[in-house]
Amino acid sequence: MNTYFETVQKKFADLKQKKDVIVLGIESSCDETSVSVVKNGTTLLSNVISSQIEIHKRFGGVVPEVASRNHIIAIENVFNEAIKDANISIDEIDAVAVTYGAGLIGALLVGVNFAKSLAFNLGVPLIAVSHIEGHISANYLTHKALQPPFVCLLVSGGHTALLQVDDYVEHKLLGTTIDDAVGEAFDKVARVLNLSYPGGPNVDKLAKLGEGKIEFIKHNVLNNTLNFSFSGIKTAVVNYVHNLEQKGKEINVPDICASFQNYVVKELSEKSIQACKQAKLDKLVVAGGVSANSFLKQHLKDLCEKNNIQLFMPDLKLCTDNAGMIASAGYYYIKKQKGLSNLDLTGQATVGL
Ligand code: KG4
Ligand code: ZN
Repeated sequence: MNTYFETVQKKFADLKQKKDVIVLGIESSCDETSVSVVKNGTTLLSNVISSQIEIHKRFGGVVPEVASRNHIIAIENVFNEAIKDANISIDEIDAVAVTYGAGLIGALLVGVNFAKSLAFNLGVPLIAVSHIEGHISANYLTHKALQPPFVCLLVSGGHTALLQVDDYVEHKLLGTTIDDAVGEAFDKVARVLNLSYPGGPNVDKLAKLGEGKIEFIKHNVLNNTLNFSFSGIKTAVVNYVHNLEQKGKEINVPDICASFQNYVVKELSEKSIQACKQAKLDKLVVAGGVSANSFLKQHLKDLCEKNNIQLFMPDLKLCTDNAGMIASAGYYYIKKQKGLSNLDLTGQATVGL
C-alpha cells in the first residue's frame, strides 16, 4: 500500500495539467483566522476571515499566545463556513495550501496542523505557501489578466521590500528596509498618539484632516538606493510628541499623522518608480496590509500615470491577511510544481525575501 506522500506526489504532478483546480487555503500567521476556496488561482469561491482585532485592541498589539488560542477556537467554524459559502463538497478540493511562514510560530502551527489533518484525511497534496507570495497573489484575484513579469512593492506589518517578480512564485529582491517595516512604523506612530490598534487605518483616516507640513526628517541617507529606512522617522515622531507633552503643549494629531504619512508614502512611491525604471518593467503591483492606505493609492496612481507605468493594487478586503491570497498562490505553486509538503511540515517565523 502506498503511503500518504507517495499517493499525493502523483496527484500533485497530475494537477499541473488538470483543467479546473480547486484549492482550499488556510491563513493563521498573525491575528486573522481565515479559510478560503479558490478556483484556478483567480476565482474566489469563498473567503472567510475571523479577525481577532477586538481581542488584541486592549493590549495595544497582538499577544502571540492569545492569538494561538483564539485561532484554535475559531478555525473549525471558519472552515465549515468557507465550504458552505463556496457551495462545494469537500471531495471537490484538489489541494490544501497553508501559510507556513513568516509569522508568529504558535499562530502558524494552528493553521499548519489543521491543514495537515485535512490534507491527510482527504488524501490530497499539502502545499506550504510563503505569506509573501500570498500577498502578491492577492493581485491575481483582483486583476484576473495580470501576469508576471512586474515590480512588486511589498508593504506589510512585517516586511517592506521591492521585488522583481519574474514569474509566478519566483522573484528576486531589489531593495528592502534596513530597519522597521512600514506597517510597524504606522502602528508605533499610532501608539504614541494614543490611537487604537491596528494603527495604520487610524493614521490614514486622521491624516485626511491634517496639513502635513511638519518636517520630521530633512535628508534621507538612503536616497540613492532601493532600500528603505523607517526607524528614523518613527523615532523623530515619538521624540516630537514627547517633547510637546513635557512642555504641556497641544498635540495636533491629524497634522502629525499627515506629516508622517506624506514622508513614508513619498519614499515608497518614488523608490517604486525608480525600481520599475531600473528593472525596465512598466507594471507595478502593490501587496500587503499597507496597500490599503488611501494616500499611497492616490500618490502612486499619479506618479505611475506620469511615468507610463501600469499600477495594480488589490481590492481593499484582500490587502490585509486573508486565506484567498494563500489559496491563489497555492494554485501557482501547483502549476510550477513547487511547495509540495509531507506531514512533517512546521511553521517558520521568517522566510527569505
Ligand atoms: O499584511 P498585513 O495584514 O499583515 C502582515 O503580514 O504584517 O499588514 C498589517 C499592517 C499593519 O501594520 C496595519 O497597521 C497596516 O498593515 N495597515 C495600514 C492600513 N491598513 C492596514 N497602514 C496604513 N494605512 C492603512 N489604511
Ligand atoms: Zn500579511
